Amino acid sequence: MTLVSEVRLRQVLDSRGNRTVEADVVTESGGFGRAAAPSGASTGEYEAIELDPSEAIASAREHAVPRLEGKVYVGDQRDVDRTLRAADATDDFSEIGANSAVAISMAAAKAAADVTGAPLYQHLGGAFRGEAFPTPLGNVVGGGEHAADATAIQEFLSAPVGAPSVQDAVFANAAVHQEVHDLLEERGIAAGKGDEGAWAPSIDDEEAFEIVAEATDAVADEVGFEIRFGLDVAAAEMYDADDEEYVYRDTTRDTDEQIEYVADLVEEYDLAYVEDPLDEDDYEGFAELTDRGTLICGDDLFVTNVERLEAGIEQGAANAILVKPNQIGTLSDAVDAVELAVENGYKPVISHRSGETEDTTIAHLAVATGAPYIKTGAVGGERTAKLNELIRIEQNVSRL
Ligand code: PGA
Ligand code: ZN
Repeated sequence: MTLVSEVRLRQVLDSRGNRTVEADVVTESGGFGRAAAPSGASTGEYEAIELDPSEAIASAREHAVPRLEGKVYVGDQRDVDRTLRAADATDDFSEIGANSAVAISMAAAKAAADVTGAPLYQHLGGAFRGEAFPTPLGNVVGGGEHAADATAIQEFLSAPVGAPSVQDAVFANAAVHQEVHDLLEERGIAAGKGDEGAWAPSIDDEEAFEIVAEATDAVADEVGFEIRFGLDVAAAEMYDADDEEYVYRDTTRDTDEQIEYVADLVEEYDLAYVEDPLDEDDYEGFAELTDRGTLICGDDLFVTNVERLEAGIEQGAANAILVKPNQIGTLSDAVDAVELAVENGYKPVISHRSGETEDTTIAHLAVATGAPYIKTGAVGGERTAKLNELIRIEQNVSRL
């Protein structure tokens, strides 16, 4: 056991060019860990609070760092995270910022791994997980809050469910991303990229379904394994609470119509996955849709929060949970959410944010927890940082 000797905090850039919090944790025995907080754009109402990075750093230096340095054993992750919570003293990290908290929490885990010489996934509990690697869900077309004048649905996700290895799956998602580009070009549709590197063409959702279905089929034929696709509807962002309707490009849908619409899409396109198909307060609607089949995932609904997940479990709302450490503020809280999910038959999906850095913690967390899925984009340096790390971990574990 070795004590935290120093916590250094700084501002660095994220993939959107915004400033974010990076933490270094150094231990008395010379261990070192570095991690940076990601940042959402379509953030859930019930997420832990991200402060302005300079405020978050100043507040963490005042309240958290003195409680950690020379006082907390870096290998005791729960104690590190309890200390962060005690230093903050609010439920939602609004004092030191979830961005400072999660950066310190993840950096401490990396420092602890460094002390033992083990890779992070092993330190976090992954020594026995070598056989169950996560399937990467790759964002290939999108809009919503991640791109202006593009699809209403936030993300169309390639899901290479039949891939024999993580490496094959990662390459398949990149191939689908390229195929989508070629199909857009054939149709004469120009497209830039959204925040997560997905194509963001000015087309309606219907056309995006056609193109993504064609692209996944074409690549599946090429590679010889099953590739389906899924969605992150991010419906809380399109829900108008006053009129109680979901606002699309050319139409609106009330809750019943939204449920029917999504259930029909699941059937028509054999969707492998649907995230946030309804508003973040609509547990009942989630439950109704969950009864209709496929993987229904709560992101803004659960915000990686065990209390919100417990409410969902009670009502049968969703059967999967998106896990974003910065939504809740510490690695321990994120792992608690994964464990509660698994105990209750919910699939954990470890996830990036739309604003990311080169940090690879979530790749290790996904392997360590045996999560069946990871959502971390398809292309772009801050996305490939995680995807390439997954490939390395797979080789390390499987000696491929
Ligand atoms: P965000 O989007 O990081 O902008 O919240 C990702 C998601 O909704 O899953
Ligand atoms: Zn989402």
